[in-house]
Amino acid sequence: MSKVAVIGAGNVGATAAYCVAEQNLGDVVMVDVLPGFPQSKAIDFLHGSPLGRYHVDIVGVNDYQTIEGASVVIHTAGIPRKPGMDRMDLLRTNVNIAKEAAKNIAKYAPDAIIIAVANPLDIIATVCLRESGFPRERVVGMAGVLDSTRFRYFIAERLSVLPQDVQAMVLGGHGDSMVPLTRYASVAGMPLGDLLDDQTIKALSDRTRVGGGEIVQYLKKGSAYYAPGSSAAQMAEAVLTDEKRIIPASAYLQGEYGYKDLFLGVPVLLGKNGIEKIYELELTIEEKAALDGSVEEVRGGLSQLASV
Ligand code: LAC
Repeated sequence: MSKVAVIGAGNVGATAAYCVAEQNLGDVVMVDVLPGFPQSKAIDFLHGSPLGRYHVDIVGVNDYQTIEGASVVIHTAGIPRKPGMDRMDLLRTNVNIAKEAAKNIAKYAPDAIIIAVANPLDIIATVCLRESGFPRERVVGMAGVLDSTRFRYFIAERLSVLPQDVQAMVLGGHGDSMVPLTRYASVAGMPLGDLLDDQTIKALSDRTRVGGGEIVQYLKKGSAYYAPGSSAAQMAEAVLTDEKRIIPASAYLQGEYGYKDLFLGVPVLLGKNGIEKIYELELTIEEKAALDGSVEEVRGGLSQLASV
């Protein structure tokens, strides 16, 4: 049985861990600094195992050593944003947590694939890459799956169709300047532009960009976790079962799309080696300009890293 480590047993981490366990993808180790907290989650999950039919080991611990041998590590530890906050406002706190986590991942799970989930996503992925010393293929950021699943849902809701029949991709950083690629969206193979007018598509795309913020506004005490947790688990599944799934995810670019030395959401092929391929799409002038805007937002966060 493979082993999946989840760093941070808060709402996103616990949801990701639960999704991994429920699908029997691997034994799960949840790590959290709070004494008793990950232990309580693990025992609670295990109580439900006869109902959920999962039969993996689940443990909650306060040390990193127990992640030894993990083939996938999902890094969720950090604080979530509250109303009025931007994801970048979390940078200082969450970067320091990520540094510590990444060093320990390198020490105890040196062959793992890291799925970075904490915010600001593309910056935290950078920290995971730098501090672990892993090759870029083995550090991948989660948010493209989440942003795309939101876009897919909004399209499905508008058309009253099955969400799984909707294909759509969101590129760029995981911030309000992310780029829903409306031109590539389709429903059961039919181009979205044949089914909805431009104004409606724009409204759905705008709602996608602030989809996380919409939940923060309602929740007030934190941010989303069901969709983020299951997005991370879907990526873990792609790695653990070597699915060769093509998904949008944050990858460390080295010249792709004309950008270098930063994490950005792009379509990737995910398999047992992590990112096995980055797809470079032909973008229109408008799409490229929107992506440039998103890159600016990510670079703004990166420029703060030196002072953390
Ligand atoms: C969101 C947060 C988790 O988009 O970034 O919901």
